[in-house]
This record gives sequence, structure tokens and C-alpha cells, in this order.
Amino acid sequence: MTSTATEPGPRPQRARTAPESVRLDGVARSFDTPQGRQDVLRGVDLELRSGEILAVVGPSGCGKSTLLRLIAGLDRPSAGALRIGGTALAGTDERTAVAFQEPRLLPWRTLEKNVALGLPRGTPAAEGRARVRELLRLVGLEHAAGQRPREVSGGMAQRASLARALARSPQVLLLDEPFGALDALTRLRMQDLLLEIHAAEPTTVLVVTHDVEEALYLADRVLLLRSLREDPASPSLDRIVEVPGARPRDRADHALADLRVDLLAGLGVDAHRPAAPSSPASITPASTTTASTPTASTTEHLS
Ligand SMILES: Nc1ncnc2c1ncn2[C@@H]1O[C@H](COP(=O)(O)OP(=O)(O)OP(=O)(O)O)[C@@H](O)[C@H]1O
Ligand SMILES: [Mg+2]
Repeated sequence: MTSTATEPGPRPQRARTAPESVRLDGVARSFDTPQGRQDVLRGVDLELRSGEILAVVGPSGCGKSTLLRLIAGLDRPSAGALRIGGTALAGTDERTAVAFQEPRLLPWRTLEKNVALGLPRGTPAAEGRARVRELLRLVGLEHAAGQRPREVSGGMAQRASLARALARSPQVLLLDEPFGALDALTRLRMQDLLLEIHAAEPTTVLVVTHDVEEALYLADRVLLLRSLREDPASPSLDRIVEVPGARPRDRADHALADLRVDLLAGLGVDAHRPAAPSSPASITPASTTTASTPTASTTEHLS
């Protein structure tokens, strides 16, 4: 798209270092509970590629948030190693930012001041103000800079939370069900906003979601985690699906619909597709090693 003197034109890309890759090798996490030791994650070998969006789906309680917290350095693995950009992870890392389902804004601060909380320590005041303004514009909140969280909608608060996470120009952005508390329409808009942000400020993104459709709309790859509670002998990673097509994707794309059925089957959900003998792709069982459109995507079963 070209810009003219009368149009605002594309947002300038901020000079920044390249997004980092993240590596997990043999990562496990267990918790001691009154009922004994509970294995939540086991044998997680995974690379988040620099600049990709990886969505993580899996049944409730399978360890999605635990995985995110480990990568965020908010928790330590029981076994295995994590690296960001080749350096071993030791606690929280300034290259990483996290946002959660609840915006977690300070109620007594304006949105502008909340976003400023995400700036790196020691940012000069004028530079910080400019960065906050830039971020508020990026998430469409310039007009609400002076409002407090209770004065804005849930979607606006969540946009402020995203802006705060972006304030330090993270090289790795970790999102735990970031749109889970929003209504369906706001959620669709937020998905597009996240893609816009990712295009404007390239970052390696891991996004946990319960919504398979959202995962397939946003991500380069979708990781399906299995619950060790239900499947105690297996490793945590069930499969990784490469999602075909450039973003923004057609939400009605048939290839995505087929992948959705495949992933839902992996989650134990019957998509109630009628058997269609003339269309073998529609009855491909979830346990096969390729997605229904093998030329367009691949499904890597991991055990
Ligand atoms: N600090 C902890 N102490 C004990 N058990 C924990 C702890 N943190 C997580 N767990 C347990 O680990 C399991 C996985 O939790 P986690 O929050 O990662 O699941 P999840 O996949 O994110 O679930 P949901 O989809 O419901 O958010 C759960 O059984 C949870 O009770
Ligand atoms: Mg969770």
C-alpha cells in the first residue's frame, strides 16, 4: 500500500533488535500436591522460531499456563533447559513480556501511566512519553490516554495491557488467553489488532488459547498439548500443526476448517462431520500423520 501526503501512511517501524528464538530441551514440571507428585509437563522439546506466532492449545489443566510461566522465567522446570536467543534462562528476562487474560492494570492510574509501567527501567522521560504515545496509537487508544481502567471497556483495558507488554519492545511476547474474557466480536477485532502489532513490531509470540479457530487464524504453527493426567505415559507434546496461508487469513478457508476438525479431534471433540465418501479429506482421522490438505500444511505428530 502506498501513502500520499494526505493519508497517514504506514506506521514507522521502531528500530529494534530481531525477535529472539526460544528453545526448550527435555523440559518437565511436576508439582508436589497433597495427593502426591503431579507431573504436568514432560519431555517438552520445542523451538519457538524467531518472529513466529506459535499458538498453544490443549485441554484445561494440561499445563499451557505452566509452559508459558516457564518460558517467562516465572517458574523453574523440574528437569530440562530453556534458552532465549542461545542464552540459558535464569529467572525473568528483560527480552520477554507477558500479558494475561485479565488486563491487570492499576486502577488508580490512567491508561497512559499504566502503559508507561512497561517501559524499561531508566528510559528517559521524553523518550518514554513518545513511546507510550506511539503504543496508544498502535492499539487505538490515543483518545483514552487519560482515562482510568474502570472508565473503559474490557476490550480497551485489554488493549492497554497489550500496549504495556509492548512498551519494552520485547523480543518474545507471551500471551495467556489474552482475549479469553472478551465478547466474541471484540475478540475477533483483537485478533486482527494482534496481527497488526506483530507486523508493525515483529516479535516472537507464544499465545495460549482455548479457541482452535483463533489459534488457526493467528498462528504460523499450532501446538497441541496433551493432559498427562489422562495420558500419564506420554510426553506432553501431542502434535504441531503448520498453518497454511499468509496472514491475514480467510476465516472461511476450507483448509483451516479441516485443520480445525483435526485439532478438535485431538482435543477429544467430535466435529459431527457427516461421512462424505466422495470427499476422503473430510473423513481423515486425527491420528493420521498429515492434515487433510497435505500440500498446504503439515501435521507433525510427536509421539
Ligand atoms: N503452583 C502449583 N502448585 C501445584 N499445582 C499446580 C501449580 N501450578 C499449576 N498446577 C497444576 O498444574 C496443572 C496445569 O495447570 P495450568 O494452569 O498450567 O493448566 P492450563 O492448561 O493452563 O489450564 P487452563 O486451560 O484451565 O488455564 C493443573 O492441574 C494445576 O492444578
Ligand atoms: Mg491456563
